[in-house]
Amino acid sequence: MSKQIKSKALASSLLCALLVSVAGSASAVGIKQSKHDLSVTGQNTAASGLRSSDQNEICVFCHTPHAAIKNTHIPLWNHNLSAVATYTLYTSDTLNATMGQMGGATAAGATVTNLCLSCHDGTVALNSINNTSKVRPTTTFSGTGLMTGVANLGTDLSKSHPVNFNYTASDPFTTGAGGGLVSGAGSAKLFSNTVQCASCHDVHTSAEVDGSNRPIAFLRVSMSGSTLCFQCHDK
Ligand code: HEC
Ligand code: HEC
Ligand code: HEC
Ligand code: HEC
Repeated sequence: MSKQIKSKALASSLLCALLVSVAGSASAVGIKQSKHDLSVTGQNTAASGLRSSDQNEICVFCHTPHAAIKNTHIPLWNHNLSAVATYTLYTSDTLNATMGQMGGATAAGATVTNLCLSCHDGTVALNSINNTSKVRPTTTFSGTGLMTGVANLGTDLSKSHPVNFNYTASDPFTTGAGGGLVSGAGSAKLFSNTVQCASCHDVHTSAEVDGSNRPIAFLRVSMSGSTLCFQCHDK
């Protein structure tokens, strides 16, 4: 190898290293160390009951590569669904949307919102997973392993933003002052044209982070200036 080729090779391997480190920092704001990292090294303390005391995998609490709870709308799901039969849904005199009832969901009928409720309605233990035949199946939590505090939404969803309804059908898309909704929902996310919890939230990351670069509130779009709300509402 000539000197020139050697230094070229060195330069390109340095470039590679640089690209890798740039890519590494770009993915730094992820699920790891977020409140959705329920592994033994996660953010919550084991004593709070919101973190496993033995499991070192992160995705396992929600996904599995095999034996998943699955339908065409949900990703390789591993957390056992809630058995709650009926949720109290949001109503108001001005609402156009017709929400679908999420209670009593089976694998075949589960919506993306049911995935959240499988932990956030406070009735299913955080370590209750479908596929226990995996490499590291044990996920021991202290206490009941049930959701506590403000993150426990309970079964009364009437005090929360409506979810699980068709976006387009809920509004005539009139624009201008006091108008309706933004066509397409901007950087918020629709799931088969429906609004779900994950329309506003991304469970794996956030548009807002704390001083340690960890996701706050798992937001798809920042709430600064209520930017998230303006993705859909034309107010
Ligand atoms: C606390 C629960 C939770 C954990 C932990 C979790 N996910 Fe997810 N994931 C979800 C939910 C809910 C959805 C569906 C909603 C959505 O797409 O935003 C999803 C969707 C996905 C999707 C499909 C949509 C997309 O964004 O590409 C992939 C791929 C994925 N997750 C991978 C992972 C991987 C890999 C891990 C571990 C590093 C992980 N998830 C950890 C809850 C979780
Ligand atoms: C496997 C259980 C599990 C699933 C599934 C799950 N979460 Fe969570 N989530 C948690 C735990 C545990 C916390 C931390 C609660 C605490 O610290 O009090 C949390 C916290 C949150 C928070 C608050 C974050 C903060 O910064 O305070 C939001 C928002 C949230 N989850 C949204 C969702 C949404 C939306 C979904 C579905 C798309 C979802 N979660 C699915 C377990 C789960
Ligand atoms: C229209 C957008 C939107 C939808 C839909 C939505 N959230 Fe949120 N959620 C937020 C915002 C914004 C916050 C941040 C706190 C705040 O500003 O109130 C939040 C906060 C939270 C928190 C933290 C506790 C709290 O009250 O601050 C949890 C847990 C949560 N959401 C879960 C869910 C679940 C589960 C669903 C579906 C049943 C859902 N969210 C639907 C926007 C939304
Ligand atoms: C993914 C799109 C989307 C996002 C993001 C979103 N909304 Fe909504 N919101 C809707 C839709 C669609 C409706 C149902 C409108 C209807 O049927 O009249 C709705 C309903 C509402 C309602 C109830 C209206 C009524 O007549 O009772 C309020 C209030 C509201 N949103 C406020 C907010 C706020 C505040 C935010 C930001 C935190 C937000 N929304 C973010 C889509 C969204």
